[in-house]
Amino acid sequence: MSDIDDIIGLTDLEAAIELDKLEKDIAYHNVRYHGDDDPEISDAEFDIMMRRHAGIINAFPNLTTNASNAIGTAVKSGFSKQRHRAPMLSLGNAFNDNDADEFDARIRRFLNLKDKENIAYSVEPKIDGLSINLRYEDGVFTQAVTRGDGTTGEDVTANVSTIKTIPTKLHDAPAIVEVRGEIFINKADFLSLNAKQHAAGEKVFANPRNAAAGSLRQKDASITASRPLKFFGYAAGELSAPVADTHSGYLAQLAVWGFATNSLNKCANSMADALAHYYAINDARSDLDYDIDGVVYKVDRHDWQARLGQVSRAPRWAIAHKFAAEKAETILQGIDIQIGRTGALTPVARLRPVTVGGVVVSNASLYNEDYITEKNMMIGDYVIIQRAGDVIPQVLDVVIEKRPDNAQSFTFPDVCPSCGNPAIRQTDEAIRRCQAALSCPAQAVEQLKHFVSRDALDIDGLGSKLIEELYADNLLKTPADIFALPDKIEILAKRDGWGELSANNMAAAINQRRNIALDRVIYGLGIRQIGQATATLLARHYLSFEALIDAAHQANEPHTNEAPTNEAWNDLIRIDQIGESVASDLIGFFTNPQNLKAVHALLAEITPIPPKAINNDSPISGKTLVFTGTLIQMSRAEAKARAEHLGAKVQGSVSAKTSLVIIGGDAGSKAKKARELGVQILTEDEWLALING
Ligand code: IVH
Repeated sequence: MSDIDDIIGLTDLEAAIELDKLEKDIAYHNVRYHGDDDPEISDAEFDIMMRRHAGIINAFPNLTTNASNAIGTAVKSGFSKQRHRAPMLSLGNAFNDNDADEFDARIRRFLNLKDKENIAYSVEPKIDGLSINLRYEDGVFTQAVTRGDGTTGEDVTANVSTIKTIPTKLHDAPAIVEVRGEIFINKADFLSLNAKQHAAGEKVFANPRNAAAGSLRQKDASITASRPLKFFGYAAGELSAPVADTHSGYLAQLAVWGFATNSLNKCANSMADALAHYYAINDARSDLDYDIDGVVYKVDRHDWQARLGQVSRAPRWAIAHKFAAEKAETILQGIDIQIGRTGALTPVARLRPVTVGGVVVSNASLYNEDYITEKNMMIGDYVIIQRAGDVIPQVLDVVIEKRPDNAQSFTFPDVCPSCGNPAIRQTDEAIRRCQAALSCPAQAVEQLKHFVSRDALDIDGLGSKLIEELYADNLLKTPADIFALPDKIEILAKRDGWGELSANNMAAAINQRRNIALDRVIYGLGIRQIGQATATLLARHYLSFEALIDAAHQANEPHTNEAPTNEAWNDLIRIDQIGESVASDLIGFFTNPQNLKAVHALLAEITPIPPKAINNDSPISGKTLVFTGTLIQMSRAEAKARAEHLGAKVQGSVSAKTSLVIIGGDAGSKAKKARELGVQILTEDEWLALING
């Protein structure tokens, strides 16, 4: 009889028990073998366990658990990409009490709350680790995906299933539960891990966050298993049924399910109370076992969270209040000039490396040339630098008393260090810019980097260094050239450290991006003042690249403000949030022949996908709305957010193209204009009746 023949005779219960034991044993021996290099059993005995494991899973398919994934993919495979069912948002920042109070005031205005009504906040330490989405189906852990870009992350199920404190089963849970939280490593564990790594001649990690990330992204899950990773739960992803009315209630449910939640979490009944807790956590910070870089405030009531919704990629109902920055003293060894994508010359301090808040810093921002003069900075000076969370470190001050005799003054260049063309500073601007646009290699390279970045085209594997190399080798000059790379596999495969496989992977990653969301392409062009949010507004408004380019040209035709005859210009600045300055930059970009040529070449390679209305079957989907006057039952901001969520476009002023004008109290000229133009007018009550169906 072979070692798996008896499996068929097992009852469901016996199979489940054995599977459970096998998974634990296999994980243990994997660690002894791979992690500790100290196996306890022979390879043959290990193979029998693996065969029985596979045999049970085949015979009892319903028994498949998380750990079986861990074993199946433990050794070789990389990580597959996985789309989040509900996007993983990031948080806006508050840097002082004032910002926190402003956050509270903003929410009050949005929700139209009375002065005496307090907002309760869940106040939680902001753990400095990496966020993860854990999925449970019918109470069983099925998948773990990293945050990635918030829309798509990496499937690290195998590795996460080795983290002991993450429950594999949830009792009394809705059919679909996604729990989000932070994976991190304790400060002490980080130090002993580094000591081990050092002794073994392996890479040491710069800080606990990197150690946690490096440990999680192991291709061999047994290495992850050997690392002391921990988890705190703090948010919900997809849920098939609500589990609480408040965030604090949700956190309590997480604890009931067996998740670790942070013991310093507290529900505060006002912003004043929340701030007091912020300072208490700040005081406790150095005694904590793990790194935190601030405190998160979350509106506790779920119904309010739902009404508040999100802007761009961050919820309106939560904010991170960062701790004061950490400072250090070091020597300014030199000043480098970086050229940005729009030609701005930015001075960067080259420093004698120094550790600030657990991270080695060797460069810091100097903003612009005036900053260097104002601080009377000389090369060789002692300087004070500061680093706050994930923000770029900055040079705060010069320690003049310590200036060495051989300190040298610095002259800011008036030609571009990359292309030698004049770098000009307009009288009312702080920034000096190289005027050569895309014919300046540094600008062209920065532009390309922006074009492939995460929030733009997001091309896997085409990183900054590679772009610089391909540019230098004349293989890549404009965005359109990227799409010619798949035809150059033979040339790519011959590059140092490349081969057929890497060249083919790169080609596949590029080809995958030929169909790409319109707003990503608009954003990727790197037009001045057009960030992600504005790119989305433009995509929603114009729906195609051709329409956007046409509009920019028509809007450029002569017009005056007294006699606004230019419909395209009016239409553009009527888009809510787009003012004259943004409109001018947009027009400037699309009427520049060199840019236009580059854009047309790009459009020959890609097909931008117009945005879908968020809600196709709402009564206001596709319509253009204008709000005017004071609304009583919801704030203007909430009304706008609701309208956009229901697929409508909100404009700032009334035209013949406006579909609906909603008038509140004291409505003035806009209501009058709507009447003159015969545009349909709704009162606030009628508007509420319409959207509430
Ligand atoms: S809530 C929609 N709570 O901070 C709310 N985030 O800057 C999403 N983080 O990606 C996050 N501790 O990695 C939340 N108690 C906490 C947190 C926390 C750490 C991280 C998380 C997130 C980032 C946002």
